[in-house]
Amino acid sequence: MPSTLITGIGTLVTNDPAHGTGPLGALTDAAVVIDGGTVAWVGPAAGAPAADEVFDAAGRALLPGWVDSHAHLVFAGDRTAEFNARMSGQSYSAGGIRTTVAATRAAADAELDANLARLVREALRQGTTLVECKSGYGLTVEDESRALRIASSYTPETTYLGAHVVAPEFADDPAGYVDLVTGPMLDACAPYARWVDVFCEKGAFDGDQARAILTAGIERGLIPRVHANQLTYGPGVQLAVELGAASADHCTHLTDEDVAALAGSSTVATLLPGAEFSTRAVYPDARRLLDAGAVVALSTDCNPGSSFTSSMAFCIAVAVREMGMTPDEAVWAATAGGARALRRTDVGTVRVGARADLQLLDAPSPVHLAYRPGVPLTAAVWRAGVREV
Ligand code: NIG
Ligand code: FE
Repeated sequence: MPSTLITGIGTLVTNDPAHGTGPLGALTDAAVVIDGGTVAWVGPAAGAPAADEVFDAAGRALLPGWVDSHAHLVFAGDRTAEFNARMSGQSYSAGGIRTTVAATRAAADAELDANLARLVREALRQGTTLVECKSGYGLTVEDESRALRIASSYTPETTYLGAHVVAPEFADDPAGYVDLVTGPMLDACAPYARWVDVFCEKGAFDGDQARAILTAGIERGLIPRVHANQLTYGPGVQLAVELGAASADHCTHLTDEDVAALAGSSTVATLLPGAEFSTRAVYPDARRLLDAGAVVALSTDCNPGSSFTSSMAFCIAVAVREMGMTPDEAVWAATAGGARALRRTDVGTVRVGARADLQLLDAPSPVHLAYRPGVPLTAAVWRAGVREV
C-alpha cells in the first residue's frame, strides 16, 4: 500500500495532549502521514516528510474516525409502527424488543448479514470506523450464536447480550432463562464474543440476575459492560462498577452515589442520546458526570426500537445542545471516549502507531458538528489506512 501525506489540515484532532492544545490535542495547519495501515507521522504541515501520494485537505478538519461503542445491528424488520405510536403519545417499554426477536428468528442468515453490512456501510459513510455490535434479538442458543458469528465477520467488538429480555418461551420461568443464558447459550456464544452485557432494568433483568449473568460471562473470559439505569433508577451502574465493567451504558437516571461510583472507577459512562431522542425521554446529564470526574463516551445505540440512527454527528449535536457537553467534550467522547469504553488504545486517536482511522469534515473545525446539526459533513474516510469514502 503506498504511503499518503494528508496535508493542509485546518484543524487536526489528535486526542493526544502531547501533540496539541486542549483535551483534543488540536493542531492547526497540520499534516498526517499514513503508511501500512497506521499513522506514521503527525505534525505541522510545514515540516511534513514526503510520501508516495499527497491529499490536500484544503483547510478542512481531520479527526479520528468515530468509535461507536454501543450498537445492536444484527436484526431483521423494523419498528416504524411502534415509533409512530410513540410519537403519538405512547411510552417506550423493553417489551418492544420481542417484535424484533420474532422477525430476527424468522430471517435467513443471508438477510441478517446483508442488513448488518448495510448498516456498517451506512455508519462508515458518516465517519464511523469501528462499531461494537451486540446480539440480543435471537434469545435462543442457535439464534444468539448465529448473530455473534455473523457480527464477528464485521467487527472484533462483539457482545453477547442473550440477557436482552427474557425470551418469550420463558415468560413464566425467568430463572430458567437465566440458567440458559449462563449455561448452554453462553457456551455457544463465547467463542464469537469479546464482551458480555445485560439489560439491567425493570421489565428485563434485576440486579441479582444481572450479577449471575455477568459473572458467568467473566468466568468464560468475556469482559462485562452493562445496559444500566436507562428507564429508571436501579442497581445497574453500581453493579457495573463493582464488577469492573468497561462501561455502564445509558446512565440516564443516576443517584449521587451512582455518579460518585462512576467517577471513582475506570468504568466509562456511555451516553446514548439517540435513545432519549427516539423515545422522547429525558436526556442523561453529561455535565454532572464530567464535573464529577467520570469518563464519558457517546454512542448511537443503533437499533430498530429505541434509537434507529447510525449518526455519531447527530449524537454529538444532541449531547451539546441538551446534555451540557461542550463541542470539544462531545467530539472526545465520540472518539477517544468510545475507545476507552472498548479498552482500545489503537483507535480514537491520531498519533504515530495508531490505526489510520481518519475522517475529513467539510468544515474547518470540529465545532461545526454541533454548530451545523443534520448537515452531512463527512468529506472522506480512511479505515486502517484505506480510503473508504
Ligand atoms: O439499548 N435497552 C435495551 N436495548 C436497546 C433497545 C432495544 C430495542 O428496543 O429493540 C437499547 O435502547
Ligand atoms: Fe443498547
